[in-house]
Amino acid sequence: MRRKLVAGNWKMNGSSESIRGLLQGIKEGAAPVAAVELAVFPPFVYLGLVEQQLSGTTVAWGTQNLSEQVSGAFTGEVAGSMLNDFHCAYVIVGHSERRTLYGETDDLVARKFAAARKVGIKPILCVGETLEERDQGVTESVVERQLKAVLDLEGVEAFNDAVIAYEPVWAIGTGRTATPQQAQEVHAFIRAKLAERNSTVAAKTRILYGGSMKAANAVELLAMADIDGGLIGGASLEAKEFLAIARAGC
Ligand code: 13P
Repeated sequence: MRRKLVAGNWKMNGSSESIRGLLQGIKEGAAPVAAVELAVFPPFVYLGLVEQQLSGTTVAWGTQNLSEQVSGAFTGEVAGSMLNDFHCAYVIVGHSERRTLYGETDDLVARKFAAARKVGIKPILCVGETLEERDQGVTESVVERQLKAVLDLEGVEAFNDAVIAYEPVWAIGTGRTATPQQAQEVHAFIRAKLAERNSTVAAKTRILYGGSMKAANAVELLAMADIDGGLIGGASLEAKEFLAIARAGC
């Protein structure tokens, strides 16, 4: 069976001090929720601190982005090999904030996904539709297009070492969560798309839900057949709330 993954995307939040406190709280509360895998995604500059605090624990870590390039004159970018220096297990690629605010295209996201795999870091590929797209009834075609860019470049077997996160853009940071049924529908659709290419890989791939997930709605969401965890924004900035979401998945 698929082990659930509860991942905290801290986005551009935190300080050395707040992160020390947050990690302390997560470490102290991790044992009772050991059935669920935990991971945190700090801003790049805190990666050393996070590695130092989490080494030897069961909590994994990674970053929110990486460069599609290997090295060279790419001011402000961070390469996959550098993430390896900090022993990242995962890296988020194609988050909707990267797509909408920083112009990341399906093609670029696919190349970032490939760059992560090349250095042995598991990408967490984010997909999801905007409210306008949902209202137009094109949710499935949007998600399919985002997924296809990666499948065509890397092949379905790449998902043996990758995770997918379905994050409806209209649910991110809005307090408006997809209903468990709405989320399940899209998760099942994503799994069916993988299964068209390889049913074994499809059955194994973890598909996380993201978008205003918190302890209060996590039980219902995580009970759905194709929801294998959560990618948590705001609610991951508090150890108690983050751990309560994990508990909902146990
Ligand atoms: P919120 O949980 O704050 O809605 O953010 C979700 C998200 O974007 C996680 O990547």
